[in-house]
Amino acid sequence: MGPLAPTSLVAALTLCLLLLVVRTALSFVGAHSAFAPASSAARHRPPPPPAAAMGATAPLRASAGADVAWHKGPGPRTVAEFAGTNVLVTGASGGIGRSLALGLARCGASTLVLSGRSARKLEEVAAECRAVTASAAEDGDSGCKISVLSCDLASPEAVARLGIDALSACAGRGSGNVDVLVNNGGLSSRSPFVDTSLEVDELLMRVNFLSGAQLARSLVPGMAERDRGKIIWIGSVQGLVGIPSRTSYAASKFAVQGYCESLRAELGGSGIAVHCVSPGYVRTGLSNSAVTGSGEPYGKTDKTTANGASPDAVASEVLDRVASGRGPSDFTVAAGLSAKAAIWLRLLAPSLLERMLVKRFEKGQRNGQKED
Ligand SMILES: NC(=O)c1ccc[n+]([C@@H]2O[C@H](COP(=O)([O-])OP(=O)(O)OC[C@H]3O[C@@H](n4cnc5c(N)ncnc54)[C@H](OP(=O)(O)O)[C@@H]3O)[C@@H](O)[C@H]2O)c1
Repeated sequence: MGPLAPTSLVAALTLCLLLLVVRTALSFVGAHSAFAPASSAARHRPPPPPAAAMGATAPLRASAGADVAWHKGPGPRTVAEFAGTNVLVTGASGGIGRSLALGLARCGASTLVLSGRSARKLEEVAAECRAVTASAAEDGDSGCKISVLSCDLASPEAVARLGIDALSACAGRGSGNVDVLVNNGGLSSRSPFVDTSLEVDELLMRVNFLSGAQLARSLVPGMAERDRGKIIWIGSVQGLVGIPSRTSYAASKFAVQGYCESLRAELGGSGIAVHCVSPGYVRTGLSNSAVTGSGEPYGKTDKTTANGASPDAVASEVLDRVASGRGPSDFTVAAGLSAKAAIWLRLLAPSLLERMLVKRFEKGQRNGQKED
């Protein structure tokens, strides 16, 4: 038998690569995990630790790459990018939003506008941010203004008011404008499509997508006047691959992807950066606060969420990657190998991924398992 022709070699290598991707993505349709963290260390991770400010006091896990937050505070590039900026963070009362707020405080933001529904939780996060900034400043006064603005993202009127009030909070500080809009506030869903009410579909679209689009319309014109600004939108890996029993959530997160791509093209050359960040599973309240098809609280923390990456680590990676200016504007964070393989499979062998997702749904139905 003669040597393999170059084309056969390429075909064989492509086949091997595809098999590797399929094998890795198989855990996507496994017994209990869709986008589980890659390492076994991550799979056996203990439940979330109590809240701790990002950075020096945050628990570090050197062995789990995706779970390491800043060791000694943000790097010089990240500080240079966010110092002196005015930032609005939605969903700042907990989870990733809280960690982003703390990270931005450590970077020396000039104004932090923290938004969410729970005024009490927002005040707690504001106090944590003040402690972070005060300890960074020698005289205890960092000059960072922190404003708390309660807002239900499901209400267009409340979101319109938030845009106006956020601009007022930033008036006279730095650029006098909101320089960075972090669309992070979000809600998840758990229900087969047939059991999902139109109201739940609408709620998810409003909270996860339309509110962010509305804020972009309010705040981008001010950024455009200065040829400078950033939109950091927290999407999801589930906005890249739609898994069963998440029709409302996936639809809202796919909408975010498309909106960001289109918006970036419109803002090209304006000095305004648009980033859509797609996290894998993160240890936050997202699963617990998810809604069922009738709008009732799901009220459970799925294993995938409990074993997810730490929100501090996710926030530090988001801020570092945005500040680096390198790589694509849209990126995943804390996405395990199985998630990445599923994303690739969607491009390379979409029919195969379709079959795997069907099997996953059927298996869940047979087991009567709503959790993943
Ligand atoms: N955790 C994950 O595994 C994961 C994975 C991929 C993407 N994400 C995305 O990351 C973002 C942050 O979620 P998280 O994981 O940090 O979950 P989380 O801990 O539940 O935080 C969600 C935040 O959104 C706010 N929020 C929810 N509904 C709202 C509403 N109607 N109006 C205003 N604010 C509302 C919550 O504040 P209030 O309750 O005070 O209103 C809270 O601050 C979301 O967009 C989520 O889709 C999370």
